[in-house]
Amino acid sequence: MAKKFKLPKGFGFPKIISFLKKGKERDRCIEETPLEVVKPSLTNVNAELLHPKNVSCLVTGMIPLGEKAFAYILEHDDAFPFFRAGQYVNVHLHDGKAILSRPISIISSPLEALDGHMMIAIGRNEEGYFSAKAEKLIQVGKPLEISAPSGQFYYSSLRDENHVIAVAGGIGITPFLSMARAIKEGSEDFLLTIIYCAKSRKDAIFLDEIAGICTNNDKLNYLFLDESKGQLITKDIILQNAGNEPYSLFVCGPQGMYNYLDQVANELGLDQRHYRKEIFGSVRDINRLPQYPGCDKEKVSLIIHCLEETYRIEALTSEPILYALERIGIASPQRCRGGVCGYCRGKIIQGEVFVPSLGDGRRSQDKKKGYAHLCMTYPLSDCEILISAN
Ligand code: FES
Repeated sequence: MAKKFKLPKGFGFPKIISFLKKGKERDRCIEETPLEVVKPSLTNVNAELLHPKNVSCLVTGMIPLGEKAFAYILEHDDAFPFFRAGQYVNVHLHDGKAILSRPISIISSPLEALDGHMMIAIGRNEEGYFSAKAEKLIQVGKPLEISAPSGQFYYSSLRDENHVIAVAGGIGITPFLSMARAIKEGSEDFLLTIIYCAKSRKDAIFLDEIAGICTNNDKLNYLFLDESKGQLITKDIILQNAGNEPYSLFVCGPQGMYNYLDQVANELGLDQRHYRKEIFGSVRDINRLPQYPGCDKEKVSLIIHCLEETYRIEALTSEPILYALERIGIASPQRCRGGVCGYCRGKIIQGEVFVPSLGDGRRSQDKKKGYAHLCMTYPLSDCEILISAN
């Protein structure tokens, strides 16, 4: 029998009315807040010292990883900001007047960061345009600007089961490599079973490292699935590796893998908390997304308001609005580029846009009030948009 819903004690009708009024109060506060930056509090100043928005470091090495990826070794005189294994940094590049920024996985361990060392890996196929620019613009012996570590794709004992089954597809192995290193060095404490899927053994970057780290460690296991030999991830493989204990399923890989594992997670009865996906970047071909309504124009015009300035720019309907801003050098804030973090939030004042459900991390109030995460918002008509300044 369905359980009767009971309001918590003291949460009666008047409380509900006052809660519903909060939305209006929030709007009023936003309207009345002056544009000038207020003097930061001491707490914020200290937080900024421990976790600065951006870090300038030195590139001391570049390691090609077959045809699929390359890694950079970064050094800092002092410590890098501490991070949780599985997080990423944004790499910022300047190419003429265009500003390029992408979330890039950290593959080293958290304790190494405190010694001033960090490694990141960039996949060549992920975002072809960015990786080509990165190979040209990131040079050994030169400084590089990165953001502080971000992202929610890490183990949390409050939320996750003690056993994590990590399914990786291709370059999606990178956050799990950092987690495995963290478990080995002792900065993380959970059981990790990595199921690594790649087109072939030749395409499986870091397979030897994973095998080495997992050897003789009772908290780490791995399994390699070679697609060229017909070995594919299935529900049964997940169940065999899970055993009889509860587990969380973490996934990082291509779109097709998410589509399939969404169904599997559903069949396995995993709730949202125990099925976690890392989403980097926009949809590769928006026209092939079944829910995309289509647009008969290739380009549209955007009027962009940022602080006191107004810009008129062109945007491709096949790309998220953030890309059009970057192309002309408007540095809108951003982190995940997957619609999740909300850093790139803007208000659509006029015009029609499309937001794929996969990358729609907006709060319900934001949806109602016309806010959009511009990294995952595709224009369908001419638009007028208010953005925040970086
Ligand atoms: S950059 Fe994270 S939501 Fe857009």
